[in-house]
Amino acid sequence: MSQSAATHPVDDTQRRGTGAMPTVPDAGRTPLLKLENISKVFGGVRALRNVKFDVMPGEVLCLAGENGCGKSTIIKIISGVYTPEPGAMMLMDGESIEGLDPARARDLGIQVIWQDLALFPEMTVAENIAFEQNLGSRPRLVNYRKMKQAARRILERLGVDIDLNRPVRSLSIAQRQIVAIARALVR
Ligand SMILES: Nc1ncnc2c1ncn2[C@@H]1O[C@H](COP(=O)(O)OP(=O)(O)OP(=O)(O)O)[C@@H](O)[C@H]1O
Ligand SMILES: [Mg+2]
Repeated sequence: MSQSAATHPVDDTQRRGTGAMPTVPDAGRTPLLKLENISKVFGGVRALRNVKFDVMPGEVLCLAGENGCGKSTIIKIISGVYTPEPGAMMLMDGESIEGLDPARARDLGIQVIWQDLALFPEMTVAENIAFEQNLGSRPRLVNYRKMKQAARRILERLGVDIDLNRPVRSLSIAQRQIVAIARALVR
């Protein structure tokens, strides 16, 4: 992904004020996420060259581009899986998030839903959504009541009705996607 590529997904002049998506008035506002000078090299392959973009609060931003242009690489940098080349600037709410790792990214609210969803098929909807949040302080203790409450709350917020007790393997793909989204939002 480079700033000059024709398929570059994040050219501000193309993004703002075009298309059907409502734009967010952002003059003078601090971006939720600000990236500048993001590069990544794998051996001899330059995956990203000086990528720059902002995500404003409430904004839905789509990255689109041809295979291998660097979409996954930028997502992995934002989520702390890969470290960008030196000189990168990454700010969240105006604060540097340099030295990000996956745990810290999650603590900051950065969640990635990968295509394979990474759900546990034999576990229930509630367990998949809220398992991590409701492990007791003592090892091996799970608070099922709190887990279900949290799962129910997030599904209600999303406006969907999925039986919390169903195993994920019995859900449609669309429902599984919702479970993965709910799990990302429940924290
Ligand atoms: N771990 C890695 N090691 C070496 N090269 C890599 C690695 N990850 C990505 N690349 C290379 O970096 C470039 C960007 O890859 P990336 O997976 O980010 O592209 P993408 O836009 O997500 O592609 P796709 O649309 O196929 O998912 C490609 O040339 C890819 O081969
Ligand atoms: Mg990809």
